[in-house]
Amino acid sequence: MKKKITINSIKKLKNIKPIVMLTAYDALFAKLFDESVDILLVGDSLNMSFMGESDTLSTSLEQMIYHTKAVCNGATTALVVCDMPFGSYTSKKQALKNAIKVYQESNADAIKIEGGSDRAEIIKYLSSNSIAVMGHIGLMPQFVRSEGGYIVKGKNDKSVQQLLNDAKDIQKAGAFAIVIEGVKADVAKQIAQSVDIPVIGIGAGVDVDGQVLVWSDMLGLFEEFTPKFVRKYLDGSSQIRASINHYTQDVRDKRFPSQDESY
Ligand code: KIV
Repeated sequence: MKKKITINSIKKLKNIKPIVMLTAYDALFAKLFDESVDILLVGDSLNMSFMGESDTLSTSLEQMIYHTKAVCNGATTALVVCDMPFGSYTSKKQALKNAIKVYQESNADAIKIEGGSDRAEIIKYLSSNSIAVMGHIGLMPQFVRSEGGYIVKGKNDKSVQQLLNDAKDIQKAGAFAIVIEGVKADVAKQIAQSVDIPVIGIGAGVDVDGQVLVWSDMLGLFEEFTPKFVRKYLDGSSQIRASINHYTQDVRDKRFPSQDESY
């Protein structure tokens, strides 16, 4: 039996073995993913793929807790990280109150918050109050409206320096790992080498300490748009459509249910 993965086991994987992280939003899929991955992230991306919204900003803390509970019910070994939604960590006090709510109402092992050096004080406050924090720097989906789009980072010296400062400040503040999103591969490599905690990439090239993808992207279910960094490991939507059409045809042709499927 695989042992429960903790933040300590994750930290120890740096420079030893690439960390595998995948999002999950419910118990059914968490159970399927759990045996293969190291970390299950209950990402606020669920607001787009599951809720059908155009960005992540309208997710509520209650929604995130509901999905985190479901993921925890399906996962037995993977580390479960709950994404703190937009507006839920604007001050130290508010962040701690909401992180405690996540811990008390779900079995999440850690929380994730977006932001660099500007969030270091909040991360320090959370860490000193026994909350395990994963940082998230680079392209941060919660900044889509304030930055006017999803902007790839690390394209000039100023941006590279900012990312380096962000990673170092977050580490110093006590985060156990950092997600780095939408950053030039050579820059992400430099960031990963500049800190002692694992740096997990999404759209950040191969030379980081692990990778994360949104499950509905990598299984080919999210059809609105496909970012450059997504590899589809399954043509999920075609396969599901084909099965639904098969079922529809069987019902209409009275081929379902059979005698064996009837009482
Ligand atoms: O919400 C999410 O799924 C995320 C990943 C993209 C890292 O934050």
